[in-house]
Amino acid sequence: MDKNKTYSILVKQVESLIEGENNATGQLANAAALLHETMGWWWTGFYLVNGDTLQLGPFQGPVACYSIKRGRGVCGTAWQEGRTIVVPDVEQFPGHIACSSLSRSEIVVPLHDAMGNIAGVLDIDSKELAAFDEVDARWLEEIASAITRHVFTPSCQSS
Ligand code: SME
Repeated sequence: MDKNKTYSILVKQVESLIEGENNATGQLANAAALLHETMGWWWTGFYLVNGDTLQLGPFQGPVACYSIKRGRGVCGTAWQEGRTIVVPDVEQFPGHIACSSLSRSEIVVPLHDAMGNIAGVLDIDSKELAAFDEVDARWLEEIASAITRHVFTPSCQSS
């Protein structure tokens, strides 16, 4: 199936999976599972801002590092620069943090809260070189917006 078509369905699936819930850990865990299973990536998960570091959040895939300083690695750089970073070959990215030696390419998308501050990142790794491009970036930013709406935006519902 065409990647755009796959993503157009996946965005809707993620949104319907997480909307109406008030459990950020569970919402992110389910979002990671759905993305990972649907797209067959090597590692799919979240790092969440805590002070001056990103702390490991819900993910699917092999074990990963617990914390990343702002400005370090692909994740810390995406946070610091406030932009999606597509890495066709992780060995060409200065300061790349290798949680697994099998990771060959990566994409990192910042996640914003309701105030527009970066609350974390969506990090995806592939065992293939150049697995991600601008099409992935655009659609994963759509998914990140859904996560902003349903996870990082205080709901007016009483708890
Ligand atoms: N490669 C990331 C570190 C996280 S592992 O990929 C899960 C980075 O350079 O920030």
